[in-house]
Amino acid sequence: MRVLLTGHQGYLGTVMAPVLAAAGHEVVGLDAGLFADCVLGPTPADPPGHRVDLRDVTAEHVAGVDAVIHLAALSNDPLGSLAPELTYDINHHASVRLAQLARDAGVQRFLYASTCSVYGAAGGDDLVAEDAPLRPVTPYAESKVRVEDDLHELADGDFTPVFMRNATAFGYSPRLRADIVLNNLVGHALLSGEVLVLSDGTPWRPLVHAVDIARAFTAALSAPREAVHDQAFNIGSEINNVTVAEIAEQVAEAVSGAKVRITGENGADPRSYRVDFSRLRAAIPDFDCEWTVKQGALELADAYRKFDLTREDFDRRFTRLAVLRAASEAGTVDDTLRWRR
Ligand SMILES: NC(=O)c1ccc[n+]([C@@H]2O[C@H](COP(=O)([O-])OP(=O)(O)OC[C@H]3O[C@@H](n4cnc5c(N)ncnc54)[C@H](O)[C@@H]3O)[C@@H](O)[C@H]2O)c1
Repeated sequence: MRVLLTGHQGYLGTVMAPVLAAAGHEVVGLDAGLFADCVLGPTPADPPGHRVDLRDVTAEHVAGVDAVIHLAALSNDPLGSLAPELTYDINHHASVRLAQLARDAGVQRFLYASTCSVYGAAGGDDLVAEDAPLRPVTPYAESKVRVEDDLHELADGDFTPVFMRNATAFGYSPRLRADIVLNNLVGHALLSGEVLVLSDGTPWRPLVHAVDIARAFTAALSAPREAVHDQAFNIGSEINNVTVAEIAEQVAEAVSGAKVRITGENGADPRSYRVDFSRLRAAIPDFDCEWTVKQGALELADAYRKFDLTREDFDRRFTRLAVLRAASEAGTVDDTLRWRR
């Protein structure tokens, strides 16, 4: 298939592009390139792509495409809370417009990168499945719910949206993010000797490796239409349903000498959800996650050491919010997060 991969220069997109190519797909990227230079290790070989803002996408960008994988977004809660209106413009309105253009162009499958954060304050120890009530607690998560609702309205005999509700990602990507929990805790442990948890450690936070996300999307791309049409899937695996305190313990085992410190100073995080991944297994029996949290912690520790992660890069270069704040202060992006010409 010819696949348009939005967000191909992000943390997940940089890992997903080669996985799609290895499966025989022709990948065309689309990204504003906000974090294109936030690289740890060798510079990745990106597929050919459009350097364009999602809000400026036209019919030309989706012409001749068989499927769209839509990752581009302001990708986490702090970004969403920084500018809620921008989050809705980019994550919600521009995403729905992209889907409409894709449908009009005859694109048949549209895999949307949603998130398990849509369950938000699910709380408790029960597993939440895809039909659980959605309780987003941030503009970011709310934007994902709105896109799912609107894409559902576009589904028809020729257009198959699929809602890929990813658990929180972890693992090495050349375009690293240090603002997601495992990547953050491992980096902090290496740089300071401490696995520092500011919440009380109790929230459930299911995790999934970036490569397993890429494999799940690749599998969903070629799954039979009736198995995935207009459906939501939790992406991850029960073995990685862990609490933040358990994640911290795994990190301490992976980074020798590091000590866990749970301060609880940020109180209880309202986002807590323990997730049921059985629908994905039933729909795509060939797929299962391969990476455990422990393996990911070891992989990250190796990569951070090998590529000499510095405190400066950890805090600024690989933290999405810090990068955008710096670009805004330097005037390279305007207050709508568009590049200044
Ligand atoms: N990483 C996770 O833990 C995780 C978990 C669940 C869901 N997701 C979703 O997966 C997707 C990818 O996440 P990621 O971790 O790779 O994030 P990321 O921030 O690394 O990548 C997002 C990409 O989108 C691009 N982008 C942002 N605004 C844009 C705009 N206006 N126009 C064009 N491009 C724009 C950025 O330049 C970046 O390359 C996002 O939709 C995110 O919400 C991620």
